[in-house]
Amino acid sequence: MTDIQKRKEDHINLALDRSHQSTAGNNFDEICFEPSAIPEIDLNSVDINCTFLGRQCSAPIIIGAMTGGCDHSDIINKNLAIAAEYCRVPLALGSQRASLELGLPQKIRSWAPNTVLLGNLGGTQVACGGIDLAKEAIDSIEADGLMIHLNPLQELSQPNGDHNWCGVLNAIEKCCRHLDVPILAKEVGVGIGPTAARDLLSVGVAWLETAGFGGTNWVTIELARNDSHKEREIMQPFITWGMSTCEVLSELSKFDEPLNLIASGGVRHGLDVARCIRLGAKMTALAQPFLSPAIDSSSAVIEKIEIVSEQLKRTMFLTGKNSLEKLKEANLLKSPRLKQL
Ligand SMILES: Cc1cc2nc3c(=O)[nH]c(=O)nc-3n(C[C@H](O)[C@H](O)[C@H](O)COP(=O)(O)O)c2cc1C
Repeated sequence: MTDIQKRKEDHINLALDRSHQSTAGNNFDEICFEPSAIPEIDLNSVDINCTFLGRQCSAPIIIGAMTGGCDHSDIINKNLAIAAEYCRVPLALGSQRASLELGLPQKIRSWAPNTVLLGNLGGTQVACGGIDLAKEAIDSIEADGLMIHLNPLQELSQPNGDHNWCGVLNAIEKCCRHLDVPILAKEVGVGIGPTAARDLLSVGVAWLETAGFGGTNWVTIELARNDSHKEREIMQPFITWGMSTCEVLSELSKFDEPLNLIASGGVRHGLDVARCIRLGAKMTALAQPFLSPAIDSSSAVIEKIEIVSEQLKRTMFLTGKNSLEKLKEANLLKSPRLKQL
């Protein structure tokens, strides 16, 4: 097993451990819908279909990026892909770096021929490998878009992580200019703040995925793998660094134009999905909640997608909104921390 494969395996095992979840630190529970005692709609008429990258999807729910399919995580991707195809939801692949470096066959498209599939590379990898690497990532899976992950805090926490982030924005700009699929950009659990969002949009990034604080905590995961006592002490204050998903959505909804936003980071059920849509997201992505089902089977993933979708529908029913457009107008109760919404 190579170092990268070992790291990916550690990530999967640690992400399953509840102690690396910062869900207590997100403020989803502060977003409360005004309940409707007279919904005046039929639950069966609630419509959560949506369009993403020009394609029809059954729900605004993306299976978030987890593995690029090296080593035994191939089975995880197979289960995710079969489920995504069956349920008609998009699937974001995890970093393809290891698979590409090791020259492993990319089978994901064969399991999900009609699914909206997003490739994935890190910002620093794109800065080093340039357009050629990005093109290889896209072509190898016939991707519908390329997601570039921006994870400077995770890299700082990681043994031998990338500390040189010069040239990343420029490399992203080149990808936006020269590749024929949309470029998307995401964080991994710290959030994309308004300044970075403006920079990314100005170079042509088509969609932003928030990946705010309040879900999987990549600092604690990396520090659990870091043997250096000194490094662990240095990084201690950064364990709660970042903006929560709700805070990111609140800031980015102040932009003049509505943005193409995917809300992620701590989204754990369909009520959270509804909250994100109400706060201005067009799509949502859940990563960790699909991990355990994906290790189990494709039918476990399908069941999870159905549960989250049904929770979204029931939230809409309970607020008397039968479409995602109408959900955006649902009344919220004033909360002490987020009363500016
Ligand atoms: C096991 C695991 C592996 C991940 N690997 C990647 C990756 O390779 N690339 C990436 O962009 N994000 C990766 N992520 C980050 C997620 O896509 C997501 O941004 C983050 O975990 C926050 O979402 P969550 O709280 O729903 O887990 C990974 C997440 C998990 C749980």
